[in-house]
Amino acid sequence: MFYTIVGTQWGDEGKGKIVDWLSSKADYVVRFQGGNNAGHTIKVDKDIYKLNLLPSGIIRNKKCLIGNGVVLDPWALINEISNLRKKNIIINRNNLFIAENVCLILPIHKLIDEINELSRGNNLIGTTKKGIGPAYEDKVGRRAIRLCDLGDQENLKNKIKNLYNFHEPRLKKFKKNADFEKALEDLTKVSSEIINFSAPVWKIINDAGKQNKFILFEGAQGSLLDIDFGTYPYVTSSNTSSGQIFSGSGFGIKENHNVLGITKAYTTRVGSGPFVTELNNKIGDHFVEKGQEFGTVTKRKRRCGWFDSVLVSQSIAINGITDVVLTKLDVLDEIEEIKVCVGYEADQKQYNYLPFDENLYEKLVPIYETIQGWKTSTFGLTKWNDLPKKAQDYISFLESKIDKNISIISTGPDRIHTIDRNNLLGNN
Ligand code: GDP
Ligand code: IMO
Ligand code: MG
Repeated sequence: MFYTIVGTQWGDEGKGKIVDWLSSKADYVVRFQGGNNAGHTIKVDKDIYKLNLLPSGIIRNKKCLIGNGVVLDPWALINEISNLRKKNIIINRNNLFIAENVCLILPIHKLIDEINELSRGNNLIGTTKKGIGPAYEDKVGRRAIRLCDLGDQENLKNKIKNLYNFHEPRLKKFKKNADFEKALEDLTKVSSEIINFSAPVWKIINDAGKQNKFILFEGAQGSLLDIDFGTYPYVTSSNTSSGQIFSGSGFGIKENHNVLGITKAYTTRVGSGPFVTELNNKIGDHFVEKGQEFGTVTKRKRRCGWFDSVLVSQSIAINGITDVVLTKLDVLDEIEEIKVCVGYEADQKQYNYLPFDENLYEKLVPIYETIQGWKTSTFGLTKWNDLPKKAQDYISFLESKIDKNISIISTGPDRIHTIDRNNLLGNN
């Protein structure tokens, strides 16, 4: 069985929770893009785990793979491993494998991330400042340091020097100092620890694929942050959609590959950029409060708004989503009337998709349909039949607008707060 999990909105849809839930069945869990800009939260009884780089399957001691499509900050990785080990999570060479050809995030990338934002003036992207964009730029510029470079000290020294020289003029202009010798020294101190995990990830998963193992690909961010299909330039620097699993892990295209689109029952976004259904009112504040909408990585308050079926439909198409997972339904429990965006209007023209023209973003006005709220608690429910009729109606309405089945519903942060309509886990 092959499953991919992707976010259909602007990230933070609850991917971590669903990966953890589904990984009870999985043999392998694989990250294939992004880096420690991701923040995936998993709640198991009283314990809360926050993962940035490690695949969420690590909590259940599954075989976890970090593919070449990821950009890896060695210090962030070591820190995350050490924090999880303190919580008795097992991480060793038998359950963590990192692609030899993964590109590294170095301290200079965080400096450049800062400079890039500074030079945008009022048009900030609002990045996580983890050096993600600059690390991908160096990868595409064929200057990056890869995990497999760490074994050869002399070569590594030359490569880091070359990389730092390349960036020096711009850093100087912004009065920033990046010392390549210090970077080399710091990297050398941690290199043996991460080389330990280095492995031919592409081979491991293709072998596992041949044996028909259960492989779960864990997306980070969301489709609207995709470098190609997102709300450019207010996006992240990787392809976040499901197509990236092939080039970001080396897994070949296969049949029987399911793609689950993780979708919040409303919409949130962190950082700048267009957001047609954004609510700057009491209802938006209620979503922040009830949904605890604060960034896992940067602690920023998330912007909140109504469900946008236009965007979700777009994501379903681009990712080849087979089933939708609706999360945070419980956050809508107190809302009297729930709005769903079903189209946009600008300059007397209607749109059933989000156009790429940046100049249009400001002008788009949402077209809403209104559904009656259920005004009763759905928190923690695990059965479809226990949901209030009006909550069932809301879900059916969304299904009709996005033209896709919502087969899993999340009603709380814990792994057990999940309705499995099609009995995917076989526990019903
Ligand atoms: P991810 O980045 O997609 O993994 O999502 P995050 O972990 O950044 O944000 C989702 C937040 O919502 C986390 O704090 C989860 O514990 C929480 N969460 C997930 N599903 C539900 C749900 O159904 N209801 C509620 N109330 N919280 C949820
Ligand atoms: P998870 O996996 C929400 C956003 C940042 C910023 C933009 C670019 O938890 O869903 P970057 O540092 O990637 O260059 O920032 O992307 N962003 C996320 N927003 N969830 C995430 O990940 C995000 N990762 C990046 O806020 O707007
Ligand atoms: Mg998150």
